[in-house]
Amino acid sequence: MAEIIIGTGAAVPDYVLDNDGVAEMVETDDAWIRERTGILQRHIAKEETADSLAEEAACRAMADAGIAPERIDLIVVATTTARVRMPCVACRVQEKIGAKQAVCFDLNAACTGFVLAYQTATAYLKAGIYRTALVIGSDCMSQVIDWGDRSTCILFGDGAGAAVLQRHPGLDYLPVAGADGGKGEVLSCQALYERQSFCKESGKSGFLHMDGQAVFKFAVRKVPEAILEVLELNGLTIEDIDWFVVHQANRRIIESVARHLGVSLERFPVNLQEYGNTSAASIPILLDEMKHSGQLKKGQRLVIAGFGAGLTWGASILDYEH
Ligand code: ACO
Repeated sequence: MAEIIIGTGAAVPDYVLDNDGVAEMVETDDAWIRERTGILQRHIAKEETADSLAEEAACRAMADAGIAPERIDLIVVATTTARVRMPCVACRVQEKIGAKQAVCFDLNAACTGFVLAYQTATAYLKAGIYRTALVIGSDCMSQVIDWGDRSTCILFGDGAGAAVLQRHPGLDYLPVAGADGGKGEVLSCQALYERQSFCKESGKSGFLHMDGQAVFKFAVRKVPEAILEVLELNGLTIEDIDWFVVHQANRRIIESVARHLGVSLERFPVNLQEYGNTSAASIPILLDEMKHSGQLKKGQRLVIAGFGAGLTWGASILDYEH
């Protein structure tokens, strides 16, 4: 028993901040950001939150899937930037779409979040426990960014993406995933309650801290490894895959992964120029764009691969059959 995506949706904030806008806040410029990252602009939440964007993306995915909300058995939301600690975002989404039967929980795995949420949901589907799942990645990274730190504030944007999955007879793929908790300090962000209760130096804690070069080196090594591992595990090769949908963090990382694998960059869709790094949302936003632009066609096979704080990583194979 396998699973298929029967609907996708995405939502991004209205406000667009281009590189010139960022250069008004910190000492940087459009050329540096383009060259080092490939990012031209990002969407930044003014009124929106990770919760509201998740709800919007979910509504669109449900409309796209064309199924009744009562048929959703499971909602998993990958996020690290929920507006409130509890209840979880998945419960908010459940209430919004009227999925009264759904089991709901959130999952925290930073930029690997969507891949791990997808793997969690598909494990339930494969086991025959549930039939239909709604998987969402939603983050407002702008809320945890120090807008005075030019090494991080240029990278991130806000958004949400969602996919409705259904159990389906067909090929059953095994996933790969992993973590290296010993490298946690490479990319970290203290919880807000620590900042409010204990931190004397307000302004520095509660923001994302990153060793950019260490993350870069980790990503260009681990992502190709994970992709090759998931292919081997399932008896497939690079040639069997139509699209490599990789977390959208930095164009140079994606180019390096393609080079390592000996795959044309054309098989690595990229939309980070428009959104920046939207963390858990980047893969489902890209899937939604590929679907609605006609790039993604019935019968094609994809690898989705994520990496991020933890450090964490994961890769899955899926057939697009809708
Ligand atoms: N504008 C201009 N100059 C800058 C900027 C900026 N925005 N940021 C840094 N610089 C300067 C530095 O100060 C340094 O100057 P120096 O040589 O005088 O000391 C110089 O540019 C080079 O800095 P590096 O940090 O070496 O630049 P690098 O080429 O590594 O690019 C970057 C930095 C873009 C952050 C890169 O390391 C990267 O993309 N890393 C991966 C980050 C990532 O993907 N994070 C998300 C992970 S997913 C998750 O879970 C959230």
